Formats: sequence, structure tokens, C-alpha cells
Amino acid sequence: MAFLGAIMAILGGVLIPVGNDVIYTSIKEGVVITPDSDAYESWIEPPVPIFMEYWVWDLKNPDQFKAGQKPVLEQKGPYCYREYLKKTDIVHNPNGTVSFKSSTKYVFDRDLSVGPETDKFTTVNLVAFTLGNFIQYSGRIPKDAVGLIHELANAELTLELSVHDILWGYEDAYLKLFQDFLGEGTIPSTQFGIFLGSNNTAGPVWTVNNGVKDLSMVNQVDVYDGMESLPWWSTPYANMINGTDGAAFHPYVQEDEQLYIFVPDICRSGYVLFDKTIKLKDIPVGEWYLPKELYANSSEVPDNVGFCTPDEYSCVPTGLINVTECYDGAPIYFSSPHFLYGENLLEFVEGLEPIEEEHRVYFALEMLLGVPFQVDNRLQINMRVEPFDFLPNAEGIAALYMPILWLNEYIYYYDDDDDDDDDDDDVDDVDDDDDDDDDDDDDDDDDDDDDDDDDDEMR
Ligand SMILES: *[C@@H]1O[C@H](CO)[C@@H](O)[C@H](O)[C@H]1NC(C)=O
Ligand SMILES: *[C@@H]1O[C@H](CO)[C@@H](O)[C@H](O)[C@H]1NC(C)=O
Ligand SMILES: *[C@@H]1O[C@H](CO)[C@@H](O)[C@H](O)[C@H]1NC(C)=O
Ligand SMILES: *[C@@H]1O[C@H](CO)[C@@H](O)[C@H](O)[C@H]1NC(C)=O
Ligand SMILES: *[C@@H]1O[C@H](CO)[C@@H](O)[C@H](O)[C@H]1NC(C)=O
Repeated sequence: MAFLGAIMAILGGVLIPVGNDVIYTSIKEGVVITPDSDAYESWIEPPVPIFMEYWVWDLKNPDQFKAGQKPVLEQKGPYCYREYLKKTDIVHNPNGTVSFKSSTKYVFDRDLSVGPETDKFTTVNLVAFTLGNFIQYSGRIPKDAVGLIHELANAELTLELSVHDILWGYEDAYLKLFQDFLGEGTIPSTQFGIFLGSNNTAGPVWTVNNGVKDLSMVNQVDVYDGMESLPWWSTPYANMINGTDGAAFHPYVQEDEQLYIFVPDICRSGYVLFDKTIKLKDIPVGEWYLPKELYANSSEVPDNVGFCTPDEYSCVPTGLINVTECYDGAPIYFSSPHFLYGENLLEFVEGLEPIEEEHRVYFALEMLLGVPFQVDNRLQINMRVEPFDFLPNAEGIAALYMPILWLNEYIYYYDDDDDDDDDDDDVDDVDDDDDDDDDDDDDDDDDDDDDDDDDDEMR
């Protein structure tokens, strides 16, 4: 996700009051995406430590759940991975854009985790419910599927899995069965895991604006995976690819902006809003949040009707995003962790306790450069479970949105206690340059001047 590192050095310079032109030039040189830009190496391979934490939802009463009672859930975690991001296949296009692929390597960090990856927990059988959903709603059931339905009738509706299994993959009995029936052409793999195949694998091609012609456009996504707009949603508004990937924005961010972020994992664009300015090591940063409205359904925010699929008559309760279309028919629904912003969902499950500060999406943004210093990018993955007719063991269960796990991808740049990283040296350098609060006040004034200059340059 992150940018940075070298950019901290630029920032060190920026914070010393100098002529506005100099500031403008150095910011521009810093953040455009060209091979001679100061931050280019950090853009390719961010030097700041980025982490991904997972909390799994352990189902404490599987038997009662199968008999129709509320699931009682207990979160287990965090299980923490250090992320190593790298951009490859970089092409500088003649039209002012850069294309690249991005890959992330996840390395388990036992010290930052509550236990080893082999820790077990109980959850619903995601594959059985996905296949069930597929057969129930696919309309035309393949003839071979009659046998499968029969086999599915014996499905284990809940499973005990390790944290590693559910994240990165295990051999699944039902996929094996389906492969035997339908062949490898239809079911190429019998492995299942929520993030199966994503470790150390280059994803689709991003094409983003390099900012040279128009600095305010730097990092804006132009094309993602061959798409200029998304195919999954039901209005042009919902299908827009807006903003950057969230690793960096544009310089001179204003407090009244909606900062757009395109998040392929959740299949849509969203935005964050400014709340207030705080100081991190004497550097003023803006605190930005993902607003509650993004999780509201069309009853509350009419524009969100575009996120109802397949049409405006199939809207989900506030708090959820139905990503079934973009996850190949798997009944997956995203929410905030603990159903934050989806209070109405809490009555169907036990054990969730939303706390805004711990479960929202948060950015601490250095707004002159448009670069986040702290990020908490949080998300919960839920699966819709239903009493499918042909799953006899499931006939008793209540239809509900079952929390499976939640995650937080985070950068915590400014932590005095965070003593184990070389990157902190950069932070200290900045701190040394930026010696007292009076300077900061001057800087704030300079910001305003910069913005005016900026506008002039852009016209
Ligand atoms: C810029 O060039 C890239 C690569 O050829 C292309 O995918 C993209 O659509 C172009 N964008 C614009 C705005 O012309
Ligand atoms: C990801 O791949 C790397 C090397 O390819 C490996 O060291 C690491 O353990 C893998 N991570 C997971 C979560 O499997
Ligand atoms: C995309 O950005 C435009 C402004 O550029 C805005 O009007 C629109 O609401 C945004 N769409 C989404 C889905 O965020
Ligand atoms: C979610 O979207 C899928 C695919 O369009 C649809 O079949 C399903 O009914 C939707 N879920 C709900 C609860 O409306
Ligand atoms: C929106 O969600 C609420 C629950 O929060 C629900 O009562 C309402 O029916 C939903 N609206 C639509 C259009 O589905």
C-alpha cells in the first residue's frame, strides 16, 4: 500500500520555510511517477513496514447453530503478517500514464500475533454454502449436478480449520468431488482459501496518471485490469473507477475534498473525508475517515441503489456490500469489522461489539504531499448462509450474514516505541529538521500560499 521513505526526505526539506516556487518544484519532483522522481524507488518498493492483521470469528456453538440458533462468535487474533510490496512490469506510456503490476509477499510475524498460524477455529463450510448458492440460484442446473446435490446432502456445514488454511488454502473435499464430476476444465483447482494464490503473485495491470502534465491527477487510476469502469454494479455511478489506490493521493490536499480510493478487493470506489488536524512528531497531518454513508443502503442514500445486484429490488441491509457478482457467484458480503455501521445486523449474531475507533477505516495524511503516514484499512468478510432445500443438514439454520474474519492492513509510521525498523531513522531525520512549533505555524501559512500558486500553475 504505502509509498514513502524517500519522500520523508523531501518532506524534511519542505517543512523548512523556503520560497513557494522551491517548495512547489521540490514537491512536484518528489511525487510525480517518473524514473527521475525522488520517490520513484519507494514507489516501486515501499520501504515502510506494512502489516496485515487477521482476526478469525470462532463459532462457539456449531451444533446449536445448525439447529437454528444464533451463532455465538468469538474473535481470535490478531494473526499478523508483514507485507512486502513490489511493482513489476512497469511501462511509462506516452500519454502521461504508467502501467504496472503489483505483488505482495506475506510473511507471518509470530511476535505480533496471538498464536501460530496453526491455531484452529470453527467456522461455516464456505465451499458447501458457495456451491449450495450456485446450485440454488444458477437457474440452469447442470445434469451432472443431481449427483452433486446428493453428495452435498452430507455436507459438513461447519469445519474446524487452521488460520493458515482458511487464508492461504487447503484441499477441499467438495471441490474434489465437483472436479470428479465436472472435470478439471470447470473446476481447475481443489484448493480453497480466501486469499489462495495471492501470496507473492503479480495481480492485474494498473494504469495510473503520472502527474507530469497535471500534478492534481498524480496516482489517479486510469485503467484497471483492462477496465475503465466496472462491470459488476447496476448504475454508471456505482461502476466508476475513481481516485488512487490509496497508497498516495495528490499534493495540496484540501480539507473539503472527498478523496477517492479505488479498492479492487471490494470491487468498488469509495472515499474518505477530513475530520481534523493533529500533529505526529510536530508534523501536521489530517485525520481522514471512510464515512458511514458508504455502507448505507439505498433507503438511506439513494445513490447507493447502484450497489444493489442484480437490480434495484435486491438491496441488502445497511452495513453490507454484496460482492457476489464480482466474486464469481460466491455469496460474499463485506462490512466493517463487528458490523460497525450495520447495527441492524447485530441481532442475528452474538459476540460482536463495534467500536468506532477500533473498527473504522482511518488515514493520517500529510496533506502537502498527499501521502498517508498512518493507515488502518479495515474490512470484515461475511458469508450469507441459508437453509438450502437440498442441504438436509442445513434445513434448520437461520438465514443470516455470517462473519468469517476481519482484517486490518496498517502502516504505523510514527511510533516512538516502534524501535525495530531502519525506516524510523528517516522519521528521526525529519524530526531533527523540524525543530519547533513556531516553524509549524509558519508552515501552515505557507501551505495556503502554495495552494494559490498551485492553482495558477494548473490553469
Ligand atoms: C494511456 O495509455 C495506456 C496504455 O496504452 C492506455 O491503456 C490508456 O487507456 C491511455 N489512457 C488515456 C487517457 O488515453
Ligand atoms: C509467501 O511466499 C513466501 C515465499 O515465496 C514465503 O516465504 C511465505 O511464507 C509465504 N507466505 C504465506 C502466508 O504462505
Ligand atoms: C466518482 O467521482 C466523481 C467526481 O469525479 C463523483 O461525482 C462520483 O460521485 C464518484 N463516484 C463514486 C462511485 O464514488
Ligand atoms: C447479491 O447479489 C447476487 C448477485 O447479483 C444476487 O443473486 C443476490 O440475491 C444478492 N443478495 C441479496 C441478499 O440480495
Ligand atoms: C436498508 O437496510 C435497512 C436495515 O438497515 C432495511 O430495513 C431496509 O429494508 C433496506 N432497504 C432496502 C431498499 O433494502
